[in-house]
Parts: sequence; C-alpha cells; structure tokens
Amino acid sequence: MQTLAVVENGSVVIGHDGLIKAVGSAEIIESQFKGATFDNVLDASGMCVLPGLVDAHTHPVWAGDRVHEFAMKLAGATYMEVHEAGGGIHFTVAHTRSATQQHLLAALQSRLERMMRAGTTLVECKSGYGLEMDTELKMLRVIHAARQSLPIEISATYCGAHAVPKGKTMEEATQDIVAVQLPKIKELMASGDLQVDNIDVFCEKGVFDLNSTRCILQAGKDMGLNINFHGDELHPMNSAHLGAELGALAISHLEEVTDDGIAAMANAKTSAVLLPTTAYILKLSPPRARDMLDAGVIVALGSDFNPNAYCCSMPMVMHLACVMMKMSMPEALAASTINAAYALNRSQTHGSLETGKQGDLVIINAPRWEHLVYQFGGHQELIRYVIIKGEIVYE
Ligand code: NIG
Ligand code: FE
Repeated sequence: MQTLAVVENGSVVIGHDGLIKAVGSAEIIESQFKGATFDNVLDASGMCVLPGLVDAHTHPVWAGDRVHEFAMKLAGATYMEVHEAGGGIHFTVAHTRSATQQHLLAALQSRLERMMRAGTTLVECKSGYGLEMDTELKMLRVIHAARQSLPIEISATYCGAHAVPKGKTMEEATQDIVAVQLPKIKELMASGDLQVDNIDVFCEKGVFDLNSTRCILQAGKDMGLNINFHGDELHPMNSAHLGAELGALAISHLEEVTDDGIAAMANAKTSAVLLPTTAYILKLSPPRARDMLDAGVIVALGSDFNPNAYCCSMPMVMHLACVMMKMSMPEALAASTINAAYALNRSQTHGSLETGKQGDLVIINAPRWEHLVYQFGGHQELIRYVIIKGEIVYE
C-alpha cells in the first residue's frame, strides 16, 4: 500500500464491453492500437487518471434528517444517549417506515449522484431503517431500483439487525430476522426480484450481543451472503474474533478493537472498513489504522454516509483518514479503491486499473494524484471526469 504504480504519460483503452483492454505507457499503447478507430478519445494531458473510488460502507436509504441531533451532540450528548432517548436510528426508522418507496428512491438517487460526482463508482448500500420485514424489503427494493436506473455500481447489504426495534427484545428481533425476514429475502433472491450481496448486524452493547450477532451472520452466510458487519465501535465486543471465526469479509468501525482482535483479522484476511467521519462527528478515538496496517490487516475506507455522518465524499474521507488516523496518501487511496473492492468481494473486477477489469476512472485536473486527498472539499473543481464502464457519467 506504500508504493503505488504511477505511470507517467499513460493511456487507458476501454472496450465496448466496458472493460479495460490496455493500460500503461501511451507510446506502447499507441503502437499496439495503430490504425484502430475509437468511438471517443479523451485528452487528459496535464491531468491524472485514477481508478474509480469505492465506498465500502453507507446507509443511504432514509427519510427525515437529524440536523436537530447534530445540535444535541455539539452540546455534549453521546451517540448512545441520543439512541436510548428514542432518537438516532429510531428517529430515522419512524420516518423511513412512513415514507413511500418513490420518495425513498428519489432521495437515494440524488445521494448516489452526489457520490458519483465525488468520484465514487462502486458503493455499498445498506438497509436497516425498517427493523421489520415490510420496510426492510421496501429499502432493498429501492436499492434494487437504483441499481437499475443509475450507472454507479451497488453492493447491497441487508442490515435488519441495525437496532432492536421498539417493543421487541433482542431475542425476539433475532428470531424474527433468522426465521422470517431472511427466508423471505432468500425467496425473493431466488425469483430474481431482489439482489442482496451482504449480511450486516450492529454488534454493540445495548444493541445486538455477540450470540445474536453470530446467529444472524451465520444464517446469512448459509444463504450465500458475504459477512460484512458493524463491530467493536463503542465498546470492545470481541466482534473481530467472531468475524475472523465466521470468515467475515469485512468488519466496520473497530474503534475499540483489541490487539488480539487485530491479529485474528489479519490471520483470517477479514478486512477492516474504517470510517473516519464517525469518529470525527462523535468525537471517538479514531480506529487504530496504523496498528492494523502494521499487523497486515486489509484496511479499507468508507464514508458511512447516514443521517448521523452526513458525508458523501470519499476524497474527504481519505483526507480525514490521513490526518486523523495517520494513514499515508498512497494507503488512503489503496484503502478507497482495491481494498474497498476486496471488502465487497469485487477485487477481481474493480478497484485498480488493470487489463480485464472494469473501466471505472476518475480524472482529476491536477498534475499529481495526491491533490485528490490533499484538497479538503470543493472537489467539483478538481474532478474533471468520472467514468463508469467506459462511459462518462460526469464531466
Ligand atoms: O455506522 N453504528 C451504527 N450505524 C451507523 C449509524 C446509523 C445511524 O446513526 O443512523 C454507523 O455509524
Ligand atoms: Fe454504519
């Protein structure tokens, strides 16, 4: 992650199938493709071409903002104090339950457009503001519809265990997910009505404990979903050990992970999805990215876009990761491309500029790629083109 392969005076050729046909020195590519005709040629002289950014963790389907809670938090309330007072996730659940599918889709589409504008070409999108079957399915259908209507690629995550719904115990909620919701999702996936890739649980003190988390993740794994869950965020929960044991692809947050947990993740090749916006907004101690990197954990980044952490921009996330978590700029870029693709089980096809991979690019109007991380906000001026499968989606 320290040494990125930077090609000076390079070219990228993308075929009609949206895949990269060649990438490397312009001179070599020009002779290789001599006489070929191209539908479109972009002159990126003086610019830098990077892989499309991958956002490995978002909660982008919701109604009702929480700007009032931002004021409460600024005045000193903690995340769990707001949650326990019936706000936080519960506030968003109430608004999302009563919102129409149409309203949620329009909101999601505009958020995804903003993410694409900031260079994201593949994004993980969670459900989790329903906490009962009908609304969870409504959210997954909205994600499915966005997938069909926008060029940005989506990895869909069922997060029915995002909180214990009001009026239920944790045991009842776990039973409902395992015995009712997951079988229904399996049925809809089999008929092609839904595409779900990952299973998620918020494993936290006062939310889902380790046993319930294990039970839900295992049930998801048994139906072919990738395990990708929230763990060790506010309290050390042994989530990292559990994830390693279950063969999780990714665990997010990890502000409170132990040294043993880090070692278990490195061993199991379970990636760590770090979310600097959350630590920043909630004033938590940032996750120990350096310790994880030194131990050989596959570190990825995500925006955690949600009504608590309202940030759609991976360039801002990379900047925060460098300043708050002591990551280097090459590490932040690798964590927001190839490693984030790994966390979503897409590293064979996404996350780097290599022949045969998908032609997803961000082209910035700057002489060095580091400007994407160095500049904090205002990236509309910097990002000149965003390209997905060879098609310009923004210029
Ligand atoms: O990743 N920690 C749990 N879930 C989200 C927050 C969701 C919310 O507050 O609405 C997170 O930060
Ligand atoms: Fe989250």
